[in-house]
Amino acid sequence: MRNTIIAGNWKMNTNRSSSIALADAIVDGLRAEHLGDNLDIVLCPPFVFIPLVGERIRGGRIRLGAQTMNNEPSGAFTGEVSGEMLRSVDCAYVIVGHSERRTMFAESDLDVCYRVNAAQEVGLSPIICVGETIVEREKGLMREVVERQVRTALDGILEFAARTCAIAYEPIWAIGTGENATPEQIEEAHGFIREIIGQIYTPEVAEDIPILYGGSMNAGNAASILARPGVDGGLIGGASLDAASFVSIVRAAASR
Ligand code: PGA
Repeated sequence: MRNTIIAGNWKMNTNRSSSIALADAIVDGLRAEHLGDNLDIVLCPPFVFIPLVGERIRGGRIRLGAQTMNNEPSGAFTGEVSGEMLRSVDCAYVIVGHSERRTMFAESDLDVCYRVNAAQEVGLSPIICVGETIVEREKGLMREVVERQVRTALDGILEFAARTCAIAYEPIWAIGTGENATPEQIEEAHGFIREIIGQIYTPEVAEDIPILYGGSMNAGNAASILARPGVDGGLIGGASLDAASFVSIVRAAASR
């Protein structure tokens, strides 16, 4: 049975003291919650605050993730961070191929595949982001774009490694806009992604891989999105910066 994952992507937000305060408030907010065994709660702070946040969540249910990584293990790559480094500060997850990485930092589908490969090699679970632009959706290209992104990201990735991955369907037009995709659109895209994974591997493998939704998910819409078949959690940007909102989303995931 696949896990549910609620991951907070803090992006380039917080500072030393506010990252600690946010982590503490989330830990506090979740203390009394009955979370069950199949729910993974992940915080993805900016690189520099990962160890600090790690200290605050130590011993609890929350796990650490990073927002990206380089696929090279080490070397002359100024400004980059490797998977091995992330493991050494207790990250369990890494977001790969976020649309902001793809559009602002020119990460190609193939770069995403290299990162997926490097992440699983060091024992990090990649959360692979895919999703179409508004223009692509309006032209009826959602399936074509998402299929290309999923197939390329998993190209050459063996079945056992694929089982460590999660996919996040994040339509770009819904990210940070306050306009979430409708539960129907989300259910359709997730079903389609699961179909593709089933074709690459087997339907059984596809059943075991969590598919998350991301794009303006918040305390108000989380329950209705998470209630849809095939939606196995969320990748939360803006709402993850507010402890009460993030805790509500976790609660919605735990109680479905
Ligand atoms: P958002 O971001 O929740 O602020 O829309 C989601 C994401 O980019 O992962």
